[in-house]
Amino acid sequence: MVKRFIGQLIDLGHALIMRGLTASPQEGFATASGAIRLEDERGLDAHSCAGAAPTRNHPAEAAKIQQGIEKDLLKGRPDTVIIEVTSKCNLRCHYCPKADPLVDSLPHVNTDMSDAMLDTLYAFCKSHGTKDVTLSGVGETAMHAGWHRRLGKFLDDPDFKLYTVSNFARPLDDDDLAAFLRFDTVQVSFDSSDFMMVRKLRSKANLGIITYNIVRLKQKIREAGAGPSVVVNCTLLRDNIGHLADLARFCRELGVDKLLVGEMMNLTAYNTFDGIEKLTSAEIRVLADQMASAREVLAGTATVFEPRDSLLDLLWRREADLADGASDRREDRGWGSCLQPWSMPLVRSDGKVFACCIAVDEVEPVGDLATSSMAEIFDGTRARAVRADILAGRPSVPCATCVMARKMPPEEFKELVRNWL
Ligand SMILES: C[S@@+](CC[C@H](N)C(=O)[O-])C[C@H]1O[C@@H](n2cnc3c(N)ncnc32)[C@H](O)[C@@H]1O
Ligand code: SF4
Ligand code: SF4
Repeated sequence: MVKRFIGQLIDLGHALIMRGLTASPQEGFATASGAIRLEDERGLDAHSCAGAAPTRNHPAEAAKIQQGIEKDLLKGRPDTVIIEVTSKCNLRCHYCPKADPLVDSLPHVNTDMSDAMLDTLYAFCKSHGTKDVTLSGVGETAMHAGWHRRLGKFLDDPDFKLYTVSNFARPLDDDDLAAFLRFDTVQVSFDSSDFMMVRKLRSKANLGIITYNIVRLKQKIREAGAGPSVVVNCTLLRDNIGHLADLARFCRELGVDKLLVGEMMNLTAYNTFDGIEKLTSAEIRVLADQMASAREVLAGTATVFEPRDSLLDLLWRREADLADGASDRREDRGWGSCLQPWSMPLVRSDGKVFACCIAVDEVEPVGDLATSSMAEIFDGTRARAVRADILAGRPSVPCATCVMARKMPPEEFKELVRNWL
């Protein structure tokens, strides 16, 4: 159960799922019923027999069309690459697996990705048209001054939309801030506007320093007239449910662009905090009130309030339980209408590649950059098998319990993949 939370943290996953769900059907592909429609305006027959090639066209054209019709649904397209630049960190937040001495002593943990691997990934992204790159995983990319020097290729390339998640726990200097200005989104993690609560949840983190860094980054953005969206990510657990409205006020005062709120996942035995699922009825009401207040506080301001879907689901289920007196109704999250294995590989700092951000340490990697190229891995047997298993409705990655999964019948999902590819 290690590192499964990265997905929770990486907003991109959700954005991607939504993108997939709203993707408009492309011409000439199968409909939900399996029928094939070809556009009349291209001078083709409109067909409705599954898999049949058009009959009235030139053979070469027919072959081309057939190729389009019979898409390789297992192929994937790496729209986003998540790069764990380092798995070292200056904090040990109690709820994070990095705080667990057992996890933290695993051989691959506490390593920096090699410069050669960063170069390889840069080349892969360029040659495959990957525009969205996340430069963090589990660990702190900006842990040391000068962190950005290794990432120059990405930071200096205007083709990329860069994302990162950071603890902002170290006083950032002008060079650090200049590097953060190159990102499209900088997500900063802290879970309360109360100094002592931040200390309790985020180990040595000092809210004063985090605040100072955000204020300075916002100032640099103003001076430059451009810069990243600054997002605050709050992880909710029993201890800080009563802090949400105040955190919303704090974010509004800081002028952050978004307050993202998600629930803590219990990932290791070391984490003794209670999650939202353990809340009593009275505490659920407190949380519901805090959510409403936070929404109100931020309504009409420049700070967007964005609770994660999984948190809203959880809250909704618990409130429904309270309303109808059911004891502990729990549904799984479905088997996973999620495009990540097609679109968003994660590369761990040691070069192991995973099919999605949730699969890290949960299942075997789909490849290793030390022995294969990223292109080989992304279209390799193991990556394709992960996709095939999802399409078959029996995923080998943990979709059933994943916060990124959306319930969707297999046929509909297959259609979504077909349209998205
Ligand atoms: C693993 S950290 C990596 C980036 C950076 N070190 C940071 O803390 O922002 C990314 C995010 O994961 C969140 N996180 C850590 N453990 C979590 C857990 N058990 N459940 C949910 N989110 C968690 C953190 O609060 C943080 O927002
Ligand atoms: S700062 Fe991030 S990576 Fe480091 S321990 Fe905390 S949550 Fe984990
Ligand atoms: S485990 Fe399944 S639902 Fe979760 S991110 Fe991976 S593929 Fe998506």
